[in-house]
Amino acid sequence: MNEQNIPLDVQTRVAELHDILNRANYQYYVLDTPELPDAEYDRCLRELQKLEQEYPSLVTTDSPTQRVGAEPLSAFTQVRHELPMLSLDNAFSDEELQDFDRRIRDRLNSQNAVEYACEPKLDGIAVSLLYRNGVLERAATRGDGTVGEDITQNVRTIYSVPLKLLDGDVPPVLEVRGEIYMPKAGFAELNDKARAAGEKLFVNPRNAAAGSLRQLDPKITARRPLQLCVYSVGLVEGGELPERHTDILEQLNRWGFRINSEMAVAEDIDACIDYYRKLGEKREQLPYDIDGIVFKVNSIPLQKRLGFVARAPRWATAYKFPAQEEMTKLLDVEFQVGRTGAVTPVARLEPVFVGGVTVSNATLHNRDEIARLGVKVGDTVIIRRAGDVIPQVVSVVESRRPDDARDIEFPDHCPVCDSPVEATPGEAVARCSGGLICSAQRKQAIKHFASRKAMDIDGLGDKLVEQLVDEGLLHSVSGLYHLELDALVALERMGEKSAQNLLDALEKSKDTTLPKFLYALGIREVGEATARNLARHFGELDALMQADTEALQQVEDVGPVVAHYVAEFFEQPHNLEEIEALKQAGIRWPAEEQQGGEQPLAGQTWVLTGKLETLSRSEAKDYLQRLGAKVAGSVSANTHTVVAGPGAGSKLNKARELDLPVLDEEALIAMLRERGIEI
Ligand code: IVH
Repeated sequence: MNEQNIPLDVQTRVAELHDILNRANYQYYVLDTPELPDAEYDRCLRELQKLEQEYPSLVTTDSPTQRVGAEPLSAFTQVRHELPMLSLDNAFSDEELQDFDRRIRDRLNSQNAVEYACEPKLDGIAVSLLYRNGVLERAATRGDGTVGEDITQNVRTIYSVPLKLLDGDVPPVLEVRGEIYMPKAGFAELNDKARAAGEKLFVNPRNAAAGSLRQLDPKITARRPLQLCVYSVGLVEGGELPERHTDILEQLNRWGFRINSEMAVAEDIDACIDYYRKLGEKREQLPYDIDGIVFKVNSIPLQKRLGFVARAPRWATAYKFPAQEEMTKLLDVEFQVGRTGAVTPVARLEPVFVGGVTVSNATLHNRDEIARLGVKVGDTVIIRRAGDVIPQVVSVVESRRPDDARDIEFPDHCPVCDSPVEATPGEAVARCSGGLICSAQRKQAIKHFASRKAMDIDGLGDKLVEQLVDEGLLHSVSGLYHLELDALVALERMGEKSAQNLLDALEKSKDTTLPKFLYALGIREVGEATARNLARHFGELDALMQADTEALQQVEDVGPVVAHYVAEFFEQPHNLEEIEALKQAGIRWPAEEQQGGEQPLAGQTWVLTGKLETLSRSEAKDYLQRLGAKVAGSVSANTHTVVAGPGAGSKLNKARELDLPVLDEEALIAMLRERGIEI
């Protein structure tokens, strides 16, 4: 830096601004506990930019203004890793993990339990970050382990990558290694944008992260929601590091790096197996993809004694989870008709074990999706099944396309009732125009009507509905209330007791609430929340049935589209007949308390966390919403109050860090009662 012509107070201020901004980044992106308000951050950044414009010699590579802005490259240059970047051995069962532990103890000639560090294996891209005197000098991909590519310009744009390390005794040369990944939420948002723009979608977060780092123009990378999480050190010169792996990571965290908050120490291999199970259960809820757990001998001296074989250390292994993506063959495509007539193509697959279950069907969504995938019958496809989400076809392996692969043809008549299939302009879905003539739509409408959140008819499962419709015993939802014992008993696999139970359940379901009844009707776009808002706004069914689209749009969260569907539903004579028939059958509900202007919690966002004991979570949510509050799933500076029950974890911690009001369940109930809610 040429400091000759720069006033001392400017130099001091610039150093101060670096410090403020670096700390704010660290709080926000590494520790997840923002402290500086956004507006203040922006003011500081602008002040720094202005000073740097005035005194260009103040611009250093570690300045917080230097995250974006580098010119596009024409190619990446190669980087040699002084210490090779290794890979990991895998284990696929408890036995294989125990073998790993046994080999270690044999080699150490020890009967004692070995302590392990446990870390989720993030599914991203391995990187090496080289810091000289605490300043980021170079970032590189792993490549073949010996030679990678220089991606410094791209990596600088990631806010959780410190450009300069926080104070402390940082070794003059420090190479840190970790994973760059894209969190699930950012990935979904990125693909939503790509879909809206008609661009090609990314197959999964890992590919999206890899593609983002491979950009020659860092401005593109800067727009991608990437994260860094570090998991080891490489080359270290000068300075001392702790003797346990987990302590090294804690030290890296203090220097400014993000480490995995799930990291734990296990006292022996059994504790590792426990950890693997627990994280497996949590896998879907984690905000990022993981494909296994990495177990590492925690003692660095023991790691050194154990050394390496070929390209992997003896002291670490990755215990993999069942793969969430597999390859299989698309045998055929069939078309299913849903409750609203939507005709959905369903892929029939050669059975494949993925995400822990055998999958032989996957949804193809609609015509646009088929076009986007470019998939043909006979193709080899990649199937993804994550958690309880229905299996998806994510891509086609075009190199394996057989000569006799054939195009998927969309039917122009309903495969169930033969009514014409109509495409709605501006919509990707095609619909059977048969309405309730179509037995497929009828079945779905009845299943929905009977479901738990609707009329909650115990014992009326999907299979039974299908049987009743197929046997000609049931033609409409109101028909449910005219089913007779003899006819039910005559059904295959139906005993007298279950038939009577079903009739009792039907009788019981007649006592309902207006929101549940509205939801049960299956009006398009009217989910539980909208049904609740409609019921509360109008108070009674007749008023709602007479409302025009303008009146409907006065209801919270009801826009023109929903208003149109609601009005249209109540215009159709057969819907009115059904409602009348249901009322005749004895369906009743208490008058709904109409929502007055009284919304004392309007504008507030509340978060519920931990276990509630008196109220159920949905009751608590419902009451809060009645008083005008929004109920959100995560804590931020915008949260008004957090309700925490036993077992509350990170959300409660965050609330404390942000100094937000926290109520326990008792206090919540007192507050609700005070505002007129009867509990
Ligand atoms: S340790 C010598 N820890 O898994 C140890 N690797 O095959 C080398 N990975 O590409 C890696 N999470 O990028 C380690 N907590 C973690 C990891 C992790 C993900 C990736 C790593 C590498 C691959 C190892």
